[in-house]
Amino acid sequence: MRHTRVIVTHYGGLDALRVVEEECPEPKNGDVRVRVLAAGVSLPDIMAREGVHPETPPVPFTPGWDLVGEVDRLGDGVAGIEPGQIVAALPIHGAYAEFVCLPQHELVPVPPGLDAAEAVSLVLNYITAYQMLHRSANVRPGQRVLIHGAAGGVGTALLQLGRLAGLEMYGTCSSRGASIVSDLGGIPIDYHHQDFVTEIHRLTSEGVDVVFDGIGGSHIWRSRKALRPGGRVVAYGLTSSLRAGRLASGRSGGRHRFRGIAIFGLYIAGGWLLPGRRRVIPYSIQTLKRLKPALFRQDLIALLDLLQLQKIRPLIAQRLPLAEARRAQELLGNGGVVGKIVLVRSGSSLES
Ligand SMILES: NC(=O)c1ccc[n+]([C@@H]2O[C@H](COP(=O)([O-])OP(=O)(O)OC[C@H]3O[C@@H](n4cnc5c(N)ncnc54)[C@H](OP(=O)(O)O)[C@@H]3O)[C@@H](O)[C@H]2O)c1
Repeated sequence: MRHTRVIVTHYGGLDALRVVEEECPEPKNGDVRVRVLAAGVSLPDIMAREGVHPETPPVPFTPGWDLVGEVDRLGDGVAGIEPGQIVAALPIHGAYAEFVCLPQHELVPVPPGLDAAEAVSLVLNYITAYQMLHRSANVRPGQRVLIHGAAGGVGTALLQLGRLAGLEMYGTCSSRGASIVSDLGGIPIDYHHQDFVTEIHRLTSEGVDVVFDGIGGSHIWRSRKALRPGGRVVAYGLTSSLRAGRLASGRSGGRHRFRGIAIFGLYIAGGWLLPGRRRVIPYSIQTLKRLKPALFRQDLIALLDLLQLQKIRPLIAQRLPLAEARRAQELLGNGGVVGKIVLVRSGSSLES
């Protein structure tokens, strides 16, 4: 049987993405072959394409952090899972494909009746948001938080989960994202036209308890200035390194997995050493999953429950077929996307 997958042929721009057709992979001992119904498109995919994400594999590789799919074929030694069952996984790369083989222990069952694109939004964006809120920042009802990129994939997840946690929320976004930030319970701050540090101190007087900063670089230090004494910046991304789907610096072409990471260390150390009791703490979904895989599973099951109960409603910016992966990354890289772009198998929202 043949299938299609997307590959990154070299580190660089959109021209690095190619759709290839080849023999369908066969599951090895302990593996399960999954027919992908929905694969998320995220900034980490673009960073891996550019060769600058810490999780960048050697080329050629298939991008795609997160997927929801249907169990298709079982390898030897697999038990307790049936063909046809809907599952979710965070393979980190490989999800932009019709079929993918994964170890059984990587799969989390998805309750029946859920939309595949909505369910896949939980796997990277909502777990990131949930773990930052409840495992890194340990937020309590009534606390004030500032969410950067609040109209984006992780940002909208933070707003929905922050509202459930009873937080007072402020969110930076462009003007086109302001209405969605308000609808989700946040007070929008237009980062193109307003200085967020000044604005936070004007609105709250003493500052916020927590800032969620996925922008990275020197932005982390400005976020620290928006904190009240004793507050924390949770630093988790490097959005500032990209512009229109390309590295802002214009440099690329190689595998530079740790570019931009050193600055995190500098700010974390600075937060401890400087007066004012304002700390910077890093968060990484893949690190926590490797260290404590049971937490990932537990948190994804909790989020799937919330989705089934309709307490959260992931925003799907666009559903595109797998063959349009290049366009999907172009749209995300150009900015202004509200919610999550998802690559779907035709009709998958009905199939799942
Ligand atoms: N550490 C982890 O485990 C982890 C997990 C998932 C994601 N991430 C990181 O999280 C970040 C966000 O990912 P995502 O998938 O949510 O991306 P996304 O959907 O593209 O959202 C990013 C948002 O940031 C906004 N933005 C860009 N520059 C900004 C600035 N200077 N100030 C405020 N907002 C700004 C964008 O708004 P406009 O487009 O309107 O400008 C966009 O809405 C990425 O850096 C990603 O690598 C980390």
